[in-house]
Amino acid sequence: MEFDVAVLPGDGIGPEVVAEATKVLQAVAERFRHKFLLHQGLVGGCAIDVSGIALSQETLDMCKQCDAVLLGAVGGPKWDDPQTKVHPEDGLLALRKELGLFANLRPVKVLPMLVNSTSLRPEIVEGVDLLFVRELTGGLYFGQPKKQWRTSEGRQAVDTMAYSEAEIKRILRVGFELARTRSKKLISVDKANILQSSRLWRQIAIEISVDYPDIELQHMLVDACAMRLIQRPADLDVLVTENTFGDILTDEASMLAGSMGMLPSASLAGIPKGKTFGMYEPIHGSVPSRAGQNLANPIATISSVAMMLRYSFELETEAQAIENAVLATLEQGYRTYDIMSEGKTKVGTKEMGDLIAQRIK
Ligand code: IPM
Ligand code: MG
Repeated sequence: MEFDVAVLPGDGIGPEVVAEATKVLQAVAERFRHKFLLHQGLVGGCAIDVSGIALSQETLDMCKQCDAVLLGAVGGPKWDDPQTKVHPEDGLLALRKELGLFANLRPVKVLPMLVNSTSLRPEIVEGVDLLFVRELTGGLYFGQPKKQWRTSEGRQAVDTMAYSEAEIKRILRVGFELARTRSKKLISVDKANILQSSRLWRQIAIEISVDYPDIELQHMLVDACAMRLIQRPADLDVLVTENTFGDILTDEASMLAGSMGMLPSASLAGIPKGKTFGMYEPIHGSVPSRAGQNLANPIATISSVAMMLRYSFELETEAQAIENAVLATLEQGYRTYDIMSEGKTKVGTKEMGDLIAQRIK
């Protein structure tokens, strides 16, 4: 089969990890006789440098014409000045919003050979296999008003956590549908003891749970969830939450897996059924301090490609071929710096990509 993929490497370690991910994608093409046509584009700081904006209409249109988008990471100290009007992150938010990617899937799976790489005790992280479904185009990130201003008493600022019924319904449905493919348990995370948006969220969760009698729905306050994540994470399965809560909790959850460098993500435009358009990116950032040194762990981005094959191209066997190649490479003892431990073989970004790609061919 033939697919068009928009490739947006972005900034920092983005280009390095994306290069390894496309290497692995080409290995899949060879082995399974597919054709992946890669269309390169700019987003983030590198786009600001060229055009003054973080996402050009041209890049956006190109993404819309493709079957899926592969993204590295955006941002860096060069563009960090809070006084400036354009930020690399704006490009990422614009992509999510303009492409309608409201459902962010962030699986956190602790691989048996990495239980000793985490900062938690191995017996706590053993067997962790959970999935965050994060709302991605609403809440504090986009709500209006959103501004800073001066008053006679000093400066003031506001952000707005706004959610419509339709926005809440569609993300909760993704949560219920995915719970159906897993443990049939769904945890809806909110702050309904304080926030109006959360009260509406909880009400709607209860209402639509009627359509999913086979799913056990549980509500969990976001602060309690933060605690449960490091207390008994192996008990958790599918969790659905609004944008900001999901941002914070998924960084926390990533530590269960040993390193942010291990975790992939998919941002989808609908319930994953059939070929669903999506953008795929590692959950880590651009890590400027490690950029350009062949150090970064490419596994998060490579695993994101597996998610692309699964959700956007309906190529499950191919997706598993990547996941198995990652497992086998780790099994053989190869590690990038972030997951390195005694007695293992330290490799760089390129070597890790080569090892995984070779296993697929
Ligand atoms: C993420 C990142 C982004 C977010 C930033 C880079 C805008 O932290 O994907 O989790 O906050 O959504
Ligand atoms: Mg984040």
